[in-house]
Amino acid sequence: MNIRPRRNRKSSAIRNLVEETNLGPQHLIYPIFLKDGKNIKEEVSSLPNNYRWSLDRLLPEIEECMNLGVQTFDIFPCVDEVLKDKIASYSYAEDNFYLEAIRQIKARFPESVLMSDVAMDPYSSDGHDGYVENGKIINDTTLPILAKMSLAQAQAGIDIIGPSDMMDGRVRVIREALDQNGFSDVSIMSYTAKYASAFYGPFRDALNSAPKSGDKKTYQMNPANKREALLEAQLDFDEGADMLMVKPALCYLDVIHMLRENFPIPITAYNVSGECAMVYAASKSGYLNYDLAVYEILLSIRRAGADGILTYFSKDFAQMIRK
Ligand code: PBG
Repeated sequence: MNIRPRRNRKSSAIRNLVEETNLGPQHLIYPIFLKDGKNIKEEVSSLPNNYRWSLDRLLPEIEECMNLGVQTFDIFPCVDEVLKDKIASYSYAEDNFYLEAIRQIKARFPESVLMSDVAMDPYSSDGHDGYVENGKIINDTTLPILAKMSLAQAQAGIDIIGPSDMMDGRVRVIREALDQNGFSDVSIMSYTAKYASAFYGPFRDALNSAPKSGDKKTYQMNPANKREALLEAQLDFDEGADMLMVKPALCYLDVIHMLRENFPIPITAYNVSGECAMVYAASKSGYLNYDLAVYEILLSIRRAGADGILTYFSKDFAQMIRK
């Protein structure tokens, strides 16, 4: 044998030398659920180890994460039912607790990177990402609402806007609204290939944001489709997205890889709530080693081509590699 691949695996130092993929807390974005009120840290029952936080309890948590090297956070508001309406008006209301929290987090941790979600569902009485009329999700009525929401978030100090709604043309209207109002520095990470997935369940529990009727299949992508992701990515790229996201991550590693090969901007992947809940459940039953499973999952998403990963494992991973 003149070729023996095992020679490059014979010691830990050699393995490290030829390692093709690296993974550190700098690659992770930590999704966090925020609730109005004081002294709240409520565990999400279908997503153990994740909480709905009030701002006062969240600030020290963010500080802890920052000290572990996790600097980017995607913050989701958990909105009271009475504040929801058909046009998601609370998303840009003057007294919105979420926008106020963004201001305070940014003031306290100027070196953090804060990302937001732009879609109507947490604020909508219909629980859909877009405006609903006679059971249909109306694309073009939704666009100005998304633009208003984005602008309010930019005014509060958000660094990256994350449109997750899958309406056609949203990146363009959001980019225009930001630029026309002096926010040309605010980035857009668009949920480009977002699939109509079974893996969002725990997230919808956390925010109580499940659709009141119907499903999201007329706007989120069909899990059977891959080539269509190229079309979505091309549109978002042309409309001015700075980064393209694939969501979920694990069932869609091929899509991550494809976008990585075809687009010259950063690719990110959302390791979603259901993917994470499976690992918690299996490791709690003793079927999986939690640390090893988390490491392998995050590494595989990076290997597929993701630059950044949104994951509920962020803090645990950062703690794990400290040890
Ligand atoms: C809202 C949104 C969802 C997620 C992120 N943003 C839910 C959905 O589209 O129904 C899911 C994230 C997760 O499951 O972790 N548009």
